[in-house]
Amino acid sequence: MTARTSTTTPAGAAGPDGSAQPLAGLIVDRHVNAADRAVNLARDVLAGLTGNPRELPPKWFYDATGGMLFDEITRLPEYYPTRRERAILDSHAGAIAAACAADTLVELGSGTSEKTRLLLDALRADGGLRRFVAFDVDEATLTQAGRSLIATYPDLAVHAVVGDFERHLARLPGGGRRLIAFLGGTIGNMRPAQREAFLRALREQCGSTDALLLGTDLVKDPDRLVAAYDDGAGVTAAFNRNVLTVINRELGADFDIRGFAHVARWNAADSWIEMRLRAVRDQQVTIDSLALAIEFQRGEDLLTEISAKFTRDGITAELADAGWAVAQQWTDPEGDFAVTLATPSTAPSAAPV
Ligand code: SAH
Ligand code: AVI
Repeated sequence: MTARTSTTTPAGAAGPDGSAQPLAGLIVDRHVNAADRAVNLARDVLAGLTGNPRELPPKWFYDATGGMLFDEITRLPEYYPTRRERAILDSHAGAIAAACAADTLVELGSGTSEKTRLLLDALRADGGLRRFVAFDVDEATLTQAGRSLIATYPDLAVHAVVGDFERHLARLPGGGRRLIAFLGGTIGNMRPAQREAFLRALREQCGSTDALLLGTDLVKDPDRLVAAYDDGAGVTAAFNRNVLTVINRELGADFDIRGFAHVARWNAADSWIEMRLRAVRDQQVTIDSLALAIEFQRGEDLLTEISAKFTRDGITAELADAGWAVAQQWTDPEGDFAVTLATPSTAPSAAPV
């Protein structure tokens, strides 16, 4: 189901349910409400658990707990992508700001927007930044980040958009010269066909003065990759299992969280990490909202996330196929991660039939 309404909540105004919104200074647009979320979760869980192989989309990790667990992941010794991307932005945010001269920074899948402060600082130093638009499906993390940014940058217009970047790109606030940042390697959580559809849809929303800043994790030693997704402290395992807690709470399911083991493996053929939840014993799960009972055999897997790893040439080719021309590309000194600045090319190549 697509949400047909959005709610813009200016400082201190009443929300859709009449409650006061303690979001002083923060504009919030909601394109996903509770009913829409419930319908979409139910649809994805029904399709994903009755399909073969069993699979769930990774966006359902991100409730308030999932957002906090991801934040913890970014500080784990094994999880290098956040540190590497931050190092790139530390070194090159000035060049990025100079190249795009944006007055609006839009961030998709923004989470805590921590690294984004490096871009905000550089764009402000460059002179023209007026507005920051943070777009995320996780309202709790999004509004907390928005409030924190307003405290740091009181003269910046901060606009939070609660939405799904695979469904609501057409609702992105327009106007001005926009830099659209999609960081963290989140594009790697999509399959190739989804990535192409996403990049094309984004291209359609962009004018000739807009630019895209894309963060992507690069192919490397599989042992390092697997360790990044199977940390010693078990935080990634808790993040992975959190999707079962979300389904229990929101769909009235009775998953026994301890009945599933966290598994991370490198799929070399597809160049991606797979995160799975593996049944540790035969078990039955009931999902009240779906009036559904599902059997899991011991050893049976549920695929919860892919995280694709790229090459620099591969990124350029995928962008070109979707109508984006690479302007500049940076990596960290170790060559672990890439940040690519791209501009709309004249026209995307014909869509695949
Ligand atoms: N960009 C941040 C956060 C990455 S975590 C960083 O680099 O650290 C991925 C973020 O994308 C989460 O905040 C999650 O809520 C959001 N997300 C995942 N799927 C989404 C979707 N379909 N639409 C909008 N946001 C999504
Ligand atoms: C958000 N995304 C880019 C993370 C990743 O690395 O694929 C999500 C994550 N999953 C496990 N650890 C982190």
